[in-house]
Amino acid sequence: MTSSFLQTKKRGWGSRWSFVAATTGAAIGLGNVWKFSYLAGENGGSAFLLAYIACVFLVALPVMIAEVVLGCRGRANPVATIHNVAIEAVASPWWKLIAWLGMLAALLILSYYSVIAGWSLAYIEKLFTGEFDAASVQIAGESFSQFLSSPWQLIKWQSVFLALILLMSMSGARIGIAMMARIALPLLLLSLSALAVYGFKMGDGPAAIEFLFVPDFTQLTANSLLIALGHAFFSLSIGVGAMLVFGSYSPDGRSVSGMLSIVVLLDLLVSLLAGLAIFPLVFALKMAPAMGPGLMFIAMPYGFGNMEYGSYFGALFFLMVSVAAVTSGVALLEPTVNWLSERFGWWRAASAALLVFLVWVLGLLTALSFNIWADVSWQGLSLFQLLDFVTANLLLPIGGLLIAVFVGWKLRREVLRDEFYIEHPYLFLLWYRLLRYISAPAVLLILVSSLYLSFY
Ligand code: PHE
Repeated sequence: MTSSFLQTKKRGWGSRWSFVAATTGAAIGLGNVWKFSYLAGENGGSAFLLAYIACVFLVALPVMIAEVVLGCRGRANPVATIHNVAIEAVASPWWKLIAWLGMLAALLILSYYSVIAGWSLAYIEKLFTGEFDAASVQIAGESFSQFLSSPWQLIKWQSVFLALILLMSMSGARIGIAMMARIALPLLLLSLSALAVYGFKMGDGPAAIEFLFVPDFTQLTANSLLIALGHAFFSLSIGVGAMLVFGSYSPDGRSVSGMLSIVVLLDLLVSLLAGLAIFPLVFALKMAPAMGPGLMFIAMPYGFGNMEYGSYFGALFFLMVSVAAVTSGVALLEPTVNWLSERFGWWRAASAALLVFLVWVLGLLTALSFNIWADVSWQGLSLFQLLDFVTANLLLPIGGLLIAVFVGWKLRREVLRDEFYIEHPYLFLLWYRLLRYISAPAVLLILVSSLYLSFY
């Protein structure tokens, strides 16, 4: 009972803490600091936060558990895992479409993720060299626009980021992610807390608290619900096959729901701290919270530039954000690397190199959408915004929905109970019911209503 019948060899982490560290490393990244803050800013703060928290616990966490359980059952690359589990459940092998869709979403996400992570790398240098010392918010803003206007700069830093991903992926992602997460996470938490304290001292703490915690539901639209849902999947790295491969590397005989609850709480904590660090500055500086993706890259450098030893703290902060982005980036690549090397017997290094090259080329679309292709748009969305919308708001929720339906409705309950033998029966039941009756219908409802409203 302790191991899945499909398991042929031990694939991964022996200990619960390595699994938790690696999964947290995959989850925490630019999504928590950069994306969470600007999405909360654009979608009405507290109402978005509440919708986000509801989506995390009622929809995303059950789906995340389902995805990990799939990996535990299959113990192989995403495509083979779903194929095998579907055959075992006497379901159509075409459910493996979930894996294809997930790998496509992961590579598309990595293409723009690598550009933004490149910004973070560039800002390590900028802060360290004192570029923002005593800078006004105007100077921080101008410096950011100037940086974005140079395709060469963006491509250079995107390439550096992808080279780091390649190195780590080639040397075997499993150990690397777990190790890096163990070092970088406490440091990221520490530097965010220091910034939050600073923000409250120097900025407008009460305005930030009101913005983030006093809900104003008039701000909540079907579209912002979809954005909150998409972000819950994005931030927890669900629906791209990453959690599935991590599940396949997970240790036996541990409570999946227990381990993942820790991951989800840590992920939420980092996002909240990021909000508490950024918004006091935003309000004190009379910046518009809804200014978009540049929010963190203007407010933070200004904050650091005007605090004692800020250039060092600032460089450290952007370093930790970059490390968090590297562990997430490796997780985005891992499902496809794992599939290519298992399915075709390719070397890990060759699979990773090919994919990174592909992602680099795709990433040019994003890098250029901030400068020479700034005018290229569809339905008012730039190339970067389009990629973000299609992946976070369509592909991830669709992937999550398919996982919820496949695991919740197609797999036999005894099989799931078998994977869950360590959990308390009530906990199992709670998860099972949430997955079937809340997660799956909620994703469907939010997806359909928001798409209907935006196109009609
Ligand atoms: N969760 C990561 C972040 O918040 C991004 C990511 C998405 C990573 C999907 C892996 C898979 O930055």
